[in-house]
Amino acid sequence: MSLMTWIDERFPATKVWNEHLAQYYAPKNFNFWYFFGSLAMLVLVNQIVTGIWLAMSYKPDATLAFASVEYIMRDVNWGWLIRYLHSTGASAFFIVIYLHMFRGLMYGSYRKPRELLWIIGMIIYVAMMATAFFGYLLPWGQMSYWGAQVIVNLFSAIPVIGDDLSVWIRGDYVISDATLNRFFAFHFLLPFILAALVFIHIVALHKVGSNNPDGIEIKKGPKGNRWSDTAPADGIPFHPYYSVKDIAGVVGFLIIFLGIVFFLPDMGGYFLEAPNFEPANPLKTPEHIAPVWYFTPFYAMLRAVPSFAGTQVWGVLVMGASIVVLFFLPWLDRSPVKSIRYKGPISKAMIVMFVVVFVILGYLGMQPSTPGRTLLAQVCTILYFLFFLGMPIYSKIDKTKPVPERVTK
Ligand code: HEM
Repeated sequence: MSLMTWIDERFPATKVWNEHLAQYYAPKNFNFWYFFGSLAMLVLVNQIVTGIWLAMSYKPDATLAFASVEYIMRDVNWGWLIRYLHSTGASAFFIVIYLHMFRGLMYGSYRKPRELLWIIGMIIYVAMMATAFFGYLLPWGQMSYWGAQVIVNLFSAIPVIGDDLSVWIRGDYVISDATLNRFFAFHFLLPFILAALVFIHIVALHKVGSNNPDGIEIKKGPKGNRWSDTAPADGIPFHPYYSVKDIAGVVGFLIIFLGIVFFLPDMGGYFLEAPNFEPANPLKTPEHIAPVWYFTPFYAMLRAVPSFAGTQVWGVLVMGASIVVLFFLPWLDRSPVKSIRYKGPISKAMIVMFVVVFVILGYLGMQPSTPGRTLLAQVCTILYFLFFLGMPIYSKIDKTKPVPERVTK
């Protein structure tokens, strides 16, 4: 008896391999945009591996944390590389995920039957934001400290329980050693929860099958291809076709990613902010506090809302809503077609507008506010919500092109 038969009689190894790889039929027209799911998995693994190695030398103690990071950078063998892989990896993770989500937006991948897949993706996204937020406090630099102070203080805006809640989150009246300890614990835990969520994400994906740039359901089309009579005619086995294609994506990604890690790890202050090279000082507020780039579009929306009667609660609600609205996307889009390829001019213009507005908000969130910038942020916030809340109307009335029977290139 072969080893494989022995294993298969006790564990469905061959069955799982076939169902999810060798006989998993994915649409044959995947393009560039389909690289980012596998790249996101690669970056998650990078974050977990480099994170565990960082944790071997890092000290989650307010008096030691900053120095322990300097120790990693200067004295630990290859510590500088491990740290830069992790810190640049965090930004890479968000770049990859934003492109992954944008693909979903373009091709209508959130629509029936993939609503739950999208929602699981959104839960992943929120968990990623929490992970990044907790991680940013750990080097205990000026921006770590004051950034956390600003964000935790937002909870104070909640009526009645706000003040108690923010003390409960910090474990103190200000960000302190107690906060650092708990943020470290959560920052260590969350990536494993992310890994579990990614597993569920893939299970959901394989239940319904991948969408594709044409937004056509290949499972509903004709059957039979050169591998199987029952498989969708427009499907090809994931392995070896897409496993090999994804490796090409990994090579391309690594060239860019490692180029940044080796030659520009702080990205001129965008990936690692300048004030964070100074140890946290609770007595000295930095002149300008801004989160890392991947949070700035939401931060700009928060600041765009003026505080009424001395409370920021409306800003907090708008910022929360800007993320919550994404969960509802599957039900906001009423277009008879899925992919942007077959949508009409209004939907196309709206998606372009959405990208422009998101980038402008991202820029504004990095800058100190001025009356002019605040006004621009307010306009962009309204347009951001118009994209989503107007969708049930414009996606319905917009002209569409006929969708072909079979996938195209
Ligand atoms: C750690 C983060 C994530 C990982 C590792 C991940 C992984 C993957 C993988 C491997 C695929 C299949 C390959 C591909 O279509 O690119 C996929 C598909 C998909 N993901 Fe994610 N994902 C993540 C986060 C998200 C997020 C944040 C969203 C959206 C909110 C999302 C929504 C989707 C959708 C809608 C599909 C199906 C796309 C289609 O078939 O056109 N994912 N994901």
